[in-house]
Amino acid sequence: MSQPHSDALVFFGATGDLAYKKIFPALQAMIRRGHLDVPVVGVAKAGWNLDQFRARAKDSLEKHGGVDPAAWDKLCNLLRYVDGDYADDATFTEVRKQIGDAQHPAHYLAIPPALFGTVVQKLVTSGCAEGARIIVEKPFGHDLASAQELNKILLAAFPESSIFRIDHYLAKNPVRNMVSFRFSNAFMEPLWNRNYIESVQITMAESFGIQGRGVFYDQTGAIRDVIQNHIFQILSNVAMEAPSRNDSESLRDEKVKVLKAIPPIKPQDLVRGQFLGYRDEKGVAPDSDTETFAALRLEVSSWRWEGVPFYIRAGKNLPITCTEVLARFRRTPNTSISEPGNPQNYMRFRFSPEVTVAMAVSVVAAKDGGPRNAVELVASRHQRPDEMEAYERVLTDAMAGDATLFARQDYVEEAWRIVDPVLQSQTPVYPYAPQTWGPKETNAHVMPKGGWHTPVVDGDDHWLVQQPDDADAEENGEAPPTQSPQPVQAS
Ligand code: BG6
Repeated sequence: MSQPHSDALVFFGATGDLAYKKIFPALQAMIRRGHLDVPVVGVAKAGWNLDQFRARAKDSLEKHGGVDPAAWDKLCNLLRYVDGDYADDATFTEVRKQIGDAQHPAHYLAIPPALFGTVVQKLVTSGCAEGARIIVEKPFGHDLASAQELNKILLAAFPESSIFRIDHYLAKNPVRNMVSFRFSNAFMEPLWNRNYIESVQITMAESFGIQGRGVFYDQTGAIRDVIQNHIFQILSNVAMEAPSRNDSESLRDEKVKVLKAIPPIKPQDLVRGQFLGYRDEKGVAPDSDTETFAALRLEVSSWRWEGVPFYIRAGKNLPITCTEVLARFRRTPNTSISEPGNPQNYMRFRFSPEVTVAMAVSVVAAKDGGPRNAVELVASRHQRPDEMEAYERVLTDAMAGDATLFARQDYVEEAWRIVDPVLQSQTPVYPYAPQTWGPKETNAHVMPKGGWHTPVVDGDDHWLVQQPDDADAEENGEAPPTQSPQPVQAS
């Protein structure tokens, strides 16, 4: 069913870090593609006026991707600013005035979840919620109970179809494309199951630390920050069944089914780590036991995956920045033709910084009588400058009413259910040296058969390195922005 396009965008938290790093650049990019032509109202309590707000927007663009003069002129004209307290009725009377006769405004809450209740209630009483959509930032809650509470608050004012819970990983092209890759390649389906796959590893490594986000991070930790959301989204795309129809609900149904098949993680299947020096960071408690690294093992007890362990590893201050999935195939039978020690096949999908699909195959040694070698057949490319950045895509889709790339109520609650027991249990946190692969305890307690695959900056032994085909560079026939997205972190 076609959805009405939002005819105003109101974003709360307009003077914050997320707006500065991500939202203004996304708005400019939307204008460049012709996707934004409605009033954009920033709301915050900073004591600012519209000119100061515009200056902040321009500064944001200068630091994060560059200013496009024509698009900036247009954005500048669309911008409005409301300064006021979120608990004050007058703030919302002014918001109502600024959105004019908009029938379907989109309200974007780029604010801490503790403020959701107040803002939602005021949106309702001021008449701003009527016919509106609501877009909310991660983290969506702190645990299962708080996520349920947030859902209750939102659902009391908006139908589920008007609620857009952001997880920007979902909007990353290679993460989305994992699903189409799986179901558009005939060789994948027969092999992609418990009969052929021995284990799956998902690694999200970041070589940087907490980047001045001590207060936020110390209350959050790696499991809440990236595993419960970003990594579970990747996991769902890796493990789901083909949706019966190509619509947002059919796709989201399949993802929820994956999570439903995952029993809660057991404390003994988790290792938490903290990089040395973390406790000296600003905003971090001197005796903090928040994890900056986590490795865990879980099961997807579905028809397809029963018995195949999934290993997840994520952390700050690791040796490189990259996100990848590696599915290791079972060994071939040990006959004279395959030889003992024959390297195992695997499929490797890298989502960032570059996009790679690689298949490890076993080949005869170059030297007569030598052991067989594993080589990777690789297709790899870097992100193109014209590709939509994740925040541009989520805002574009939410304003168009397309919920495909957003987390549904049942999904977020299932995701919290899986991690909730380990969040409540006080498992030890082990130290690790920065720029290493986490604490040594990982290998003793959470170790895939055959070991963790170590992602490297540049793979070697590639038989085939396929360059991107420029012919497919145009996406939806839209005009590309000229600047590359910058590698900044969302807060
Ligand atoms: C955010 C987390 O949601 O995602 C950060 O809060 C993390 O800690 C970031 O660094 C990673 O996102 P991206 O798009 O930079 O890979």
